[in-house]
Amino acid sequence: MTLQLGDVVPDFQQASSMGDISFHEWAGDSWVILFSHPADYTPVCTTELGEVARLKPEFDKRNVKVLALSVDDAESHKGWINDINETQSCSVNYPILADGDRKVSDLYGMIHPNSLNNLTVRSVFIIDPQKKLRLTLTYPASTGRNFPELLRVIDSLQLTDNYQVATPVNWKEGDDVVVVPSISTEEAKQKFPKGVTEVKPYLRMTPQPNQ
Ligand code: BEZ
Repeated sequence: MTLQLGDVVPDFQQASSMGDISFHEWAGDSWVILFSHPADYTPVCTTELGEVARLKPEFDKRNVKVLALSVDDAESHKGWINDINETQSCSVNYPILADGDRKVSDLYGMIHPNSLNNLTVRSVFIIDPQKKLRLTLTYPASTGRNFPELLRVIDSLQLTDNYQVATPVNWKEGDDVVVVPSISTEEAKQKFPKGVTEVKPYLRMTPQPNQ
């Protein structure tokens, strides 16, 4: 099954480095970032997991729970976490799913056999509190991901949900945002007291509402 944006993501029960996880229950009312790694004790993954541990306060601030996945068992994860903490100057502070049986990897389509046989590629799933899929991303094993970019996407998604704005090309926190097409310019002027600039009838900009 290919997961598509807007789908409710499948539930699962799986072991992790922090005990068994019943996914939907564990996610609760939070957003979730679920991301896979080819295997334990691999160099690019080691750097990625360290970066995510350092960024954990940023995910917490946005009400996002972090869940990694690797197709090795929980004992292996525990040894690898020691290495990550030692080499990346961090403390891994989130669970890593122990997906040795590929249950979650298969459910979420994380194994792309023509790219990497029997191991997961670098998949990312951002899931909202209604358990709906809001972003997917697939990177090859040889390219580490950009986690600040994933925080930027979460900020954009949360702005859209909370204020009915979208974010333009290369948007970053504090930049002007776009009024969504479903709102008329008149309505937008009421809704966004900081002002609305109508560049074209379909292109209306407003200062970021929550700044
Ligand atoms: C890595 O995480 O370093 C890696 C894993 C599989 C293939 C290439 C790189």
